Amino acid sequence: MRSAFVIEGLAGKQVLSGTIPVRGAKNGALKAFAASLLFDDALRLSNVPDIADIAHMAELLRSIGVSVDEKGKGVYVLDPKNAENTKLNPEHAKKMRASVSLIGPLLARFGEVSFPHPGGCVLGARPIDLFVDGFRKMGAVVSEENQAYVMRAPNGLRGADIFFPVQSVGATETIMHAAIRARGTTVLRNSAMEPEVADLAEFLNECGARIERAGTPTVVIHGTDALRANGKTYTNIPDRIETGSFLALAALAGDEVVVAGCNPEHVRLAIELLQKSGVSIETTENTITVSGAKSRKPLKPFSFRTHEYPGFATDIQAPFTVFLTQAQGESVVFETIFEDRLQYTQDLTRMGADITQWNRREIMIKGPTPLRARTLEAPDIRAGLAFVIAAVIAEGTSTIFNPELIDRGYEDIEERLSAIGVSIRRKAVNGSGVV
Ligand code: EPU
Repeated sequence: MRSAFVIEGLAGKQVLSGTIPVRGAKNGALKAFAASLLFDDALRLSNVPDIADIAHMAELLRSIGVSVDEKGKGVYVLDPKNAENTKLNPEHAKKMRASVSLIGPLLARFGEVSFPHPGGCVLGARPIDLFVDGFRKMGAVVSEENQAYVMRAPNGLRGADIFFPVQSVGATETIMHAAIRARGTTVLRNSAMEPEVADLAEFLNECGARIERAGTPTVVIHGTDALRANGKTYTNIPDRIETGSFLALAALAGDEVVVAGCNPEHVRLAIELLQKSGVSIETTENTITVSGAKSRKPLKPFSFRTHEYPGFATDIQAPFTVFLTQAQGESVVFETIFEDRLQYTQDLTRMGADITQWNRREIMIKGPTPLRARTLEAPDIRAGLAFVIAAVIAEGTSTIFNPELIDRGYEDIEERLSAIGVSIRRKAVNGSGVV
């Protein structure tokens, strides 16, 4: 028996209303969990989302000796003082790409780390060459033993000048974190500028790190010693991917929807594209209101290419592709980050969208086309949520298998969507229909 989301479509009606709260950033919290290994004392974190990936990360940390205590909703205390194991449990590590964020802190703390090729959503090759090359420059010896990578720097890491050939969120973060406890100064060039990177760096600086210009392409880290939290709490930033996805949903099916507890500045480009398309959007410091459905003219098409921050985030490419199926005219979407992140569009075509895939990275969408309900299989976290959005605007009842994948990224998604008027239930399902 499997479970699935069952969604009654609105057949194009724009009736959703109310407030949808945004939770803490998945990809911020995961890295903050990993960074706990840089500390001598316990680190307190708040605004941590209650999602499966956090549970996996907590398991991984426990398996290496970190004590992980949930102290209330979204609040965790992580104490690394009994951490001792340097081998990442392959079973857990393979479930999640974010396991690589532990490499840097473990190598910096113990001079050794062993890990399998990291898992995660299949979006393309997702290599780890930048990590290997970066840590080699910092003095680590890297080998492959028993299907695991082993990195050793028994005398500690040393500062290095590292130029990333492509901007990588994971490599920037974990090498930056390791450099905090390296000897000397590390310079990271062509670094990722995602807000999660800069926000955590700012907090680490409050705890004794000396990181300069995180959030710009050139980050300079002066090595220090272990960090001390001294009772401080790291408050994780709101999830900009949830924010952008809820915006796409509200623009398609909302009468008046407030996306609350977010940072509009982190989804600035998405907001501007929707406004150009004809969606009425107003922002405050931490809310985005989508309204005016009744007086709206046909939506205008637009094209975008995914890009490292502050460009258009690859993780909201799929919800925006769903949006463009309802715009009048032709739009082109170019996925520049991951080479296999457009496969889900075949299912949108089965729902009635007019999408031509030119190559692995580019599609053309002609709209508007009404969507029809379908039985779908969530292929990854983000395309999974895009299917939920497609099902909400479609005509008829859709069944979306693999809700567990969607749970990896979104806390209580059905409760939050139901509260603004989406008809969504989680059901046990057999092969052909709902039980
Ligand atoms: N890359 C390499 N070599 C490496 C590392 C990366 O060539 O050693 C390439 C990747 O193949 C990709 C590009 O660099 O083409 C960028 O990948 P990046 O390393 O930035 O991605 P990541 O750190 O693995 C994080 C998020 C992803 C998000 C990307 C891009 C986490 C846990 N994951 O992945 O989020 O799509 O950045 O913004 O932070 C998700 O949350 O669903 C998700 C996939």
